[in-house]
Amino acid sequence: MLVQQSSALKDEIMRLKKEKDVVILAHNYQIPDVQDVADFTGDSLGLSRQAATVSQKTILFCGVNFMAETASIISPDKRVLIPDLEAGCSLSDSITVDELRDWKKQHPGAIAVGYVNTTAEIKAELDYCCTSSNAVNVVNAIPEDKEILFLPDMFLGSYVAKMTGRKNMHIWAGECHVHAGIRPEDVQEKLNSLKDAEFVIHPECSCTTPMMYDVADGSYDQNKVSILSTEGMLNHVHQSKSKNFVVATETGILYKMRQQNPGKTFIPASDKAECQYMKMITLEKVYDALVNEKNVVTVPKEIADKARLAINRMLEIS
Ligand code: 13P
Ligand code: SF4
Repeated sequence: MLVQQSSALKDEIMRLKKEKDVVILAHNYQIPDVQDVADFTGDSLGLSRQAATVSQKTILFCGVNFMAETASIISPDKRVLIPDLEAGCSLSDSITVDELRDWKKQHPGAIAVGYVNTTAEIKAELDYCCTSSNAVNVVNAIPEDKEILFLPDMFLGSYVAKMTGRKNMHIWAGECHVHAGIRPEDVQEKLNSLKDAEFVIHPECSCTTPMMYDVADGSYDQNKVSILSTEGMLNHVHQSKSKNFVVATETGILYKMRQQNPGKTFIPASDKAECQYMKMITLEKVYDALVNEKNVVTVPKEIADKARLAINRMLEIS
């Protein structure tokens, strides 16, 4: 889209959201134009918290489906719209409700902990929900003698098991294709190319596991390493005294990192780390959803009521 067209569309979206009393929430992986029109940007946990507290009656959620569903479950009295109903998530697709029920049958008495990247139906089967920023604290809140079923991300699961020292955690073998695709070779090449770079990494990355032992003592090949959620990354790079960073997550995060830290250099661990689902949300679709008040995300009440218990537990643990 031409710059002039995009700026006119942005002005119109800003006007309409005020007129219609709509709040726009956007995930940190959204394209820059969409982040620009948002009232709040953030990670999954931060956006869930915003959804619970905003005063507007309508939330236009610029992210993927499970995030919009979570907002709708937390705020049943609000209307949640998503610019594209087809914006899915390979990680949330990696477990079905039947698979989860079978798994639970095999481990009676176990506590089911699921990442927020799951469908509402899956959340209704969980004891606890968690996000990348509070998964370690959620698992630490569960009595040590209780078996845990952790799903669906195996890399986040291994990271949490390592950080908590839990031996009784069973981990589902799911993954996010974007993060699983960032290979240790990509990381090494980028770290070699940028002098004295710090390395920030999302726990969904497949390279987290082999690096864990180095990361546990705070370094990887002499580079300072931090494993963080997307919002955790933004806070960390802002506070750090370092000037250079290699960033292992979806590349959408770089927009805000560069905007908030003009004197620092950020390079992606892999240029190919793009989530096509997040990128389905365009400025035109935001406008269309707003103007026509369409693409309402609804979760059946009996599923939402059950899922809310696990989500509220997640929100209580920071
Ligand atoms: P965050 O919770 O860190 O924002 O991650 C969400 C996500 O989809 C990662 O791929
Ligand atoms: Fe899902 Fe991965 Fe996309 Fe995040 S980056 S929304 S986990 S597919």
